[in-house]
Amino acid sequence: MPGQASTITKIVARQIFDSRGKPTVEVDLTTGQGMFRAAVPSGKSTGIHEACELRDGDKSMYQGAGVLTVVKNVNEILAPAMLGMDVTKQAEIDQKMIELDGTDNKGKLGANGILAVSMAACRAGAAARGVPLYQHIADLAGNPRPVLPVPSFNVINGGVHAGNALAPQEFMILPVGASGFEEAMRMGTETYHTLRSIIQNKYGLNAVNVGDEGGFAPPIDTFEAALDLLTEAIAAAGYTGKIKIGMDPASSEFFRESGEYDLNFKAATNNESGRRTSAEMVELYKQLVAKYDVIFIEDPLSEDDWAGFADITRELGSQYEIIGDDLLCTNPKRIQRAIESKACNALLLKVNQIGTISESIKAVQLAKSAGWGVLTSHRSGETADDFIADLSVGLSTGHIKSGAPARSERVNKYNQLIRIEQELGSKAVYAGDNWRFISISA
Ligand code: PGA
Ligand code: ZN
Repeated sequence: MPGQASTITKIVARQIFDSRGKPTVEVDLTTGQGMFRAAVPSGKSTGIHEACELRDGDKSMYQGAGVLTVVKNVNEILAPAMLGMDVTKQAEIDQKMIELDGTDNKGKLGANGILAVSMAACRAGAAARGVPLYQHIADLAGNPRPVLPVPSFNVINGGVHAGNALAPQEFMILPVGASGFEEAMRMGTETYHTLRSIIQNKYGLNAVNVGDEGGFAPPIDTFEAALDLLTEAIAAAGYTGKIKIGMDPASSEFFRESGEYDLNFKAATNNESGRRTSAEMVELYKQLVAKYDVIFIEDPLSEDDWAGFADITRELGSQYEIIGDDLLCTNPKRIQRAIESKACNALLLKVNQIGTISESIKAVQLAKSAGWGVLTSHRSGETADDFIADLSVGLSTGHIKSGAPARSERVNKYNQLIRIEQELGSKAVYAGDNWRFISISA
């Protein structure tokens, strides 16, 4: 017997594979409206304060990375407990799973399983209400003005995402000067292909191989070399002033126990020359933003370097966005601490760092209540699930990073934004120059 439009009648989980060929979780959730599917992504430069991504740990299979335990937890614990629940009540659904798990970090059942159910339920909730997913999310958050984000294309990959010696992880281009999302895609893809030619001319054909997020991974090893390449590509494509630069050094990855940062952490023959103190890193960033057209720095310092974060935010925060990724882990408790200590002025929103859609919405509301920016983000290990596209519109986060404008698991988020813009037609609003802060209160 078909259930009511909003009632859960079935939940089935399975193990599928992400863009790096690692196991991840997919869930099919059924209501009277049909079947709704969601899959969770997986990071590589993960923060130590993230919710628990549960893995089997059985070294004889998938190097221990299997998620069959999580699949079992969803099928045997979450599913029976959630049958009959109403998918339009997202907070109740998420609260039920938090209680069934009972730990602080979703370590018992696995945040990866919980999130897959949460996302699938959100999709089902939108369908039950007969509204698009972005509108459903906007309504859940009480946001009266959904806005299309500026795409932040990660076109040069380094850090743990690439096989070059470049320590900082991501160099991004943001078409803030576009008139709409579709034009932003044109500007971004043209610049990406121009960058490809520039890199090939300078470093040869091998240098245009790409990293985990589809950006090029040329044989360079300094911030300046990457920023010079971007500046040249933006100019050659004709978009100087209209395309800005963002960077994510992901510096927790090269922070040493000694308390220093190691810019040579990937060099074949490492020596002391790459070591920097927190204060020296802040000095380096000050020089870079003075020279290049940068608008944000994400994780300029390590995940527990609260003092360093406060220093850079005091020095650069009025003019530039200082985004906390590993620092905050999309966790309202850490966001609250960062607001009070003025450690940063923007949130990186990654749903799998916290594990439910309700808590993700809470994190965004808290960040925005402090006047912060919010950057919606994919993970370096992705699937074909494009949930974050609607999430970025529904929460008016102003910008979204989903890697380069290449590789389907990256581009499908951007393509969904093209569809949303088309669907909204004359009502579509592109964040553009307002990328940094958009209020979501009524
Ligand atoms: P991750 O990288 O998904 O590997 O954590 C993304 C980021 O650091 O922003
Ligand atoms: Zn990051």
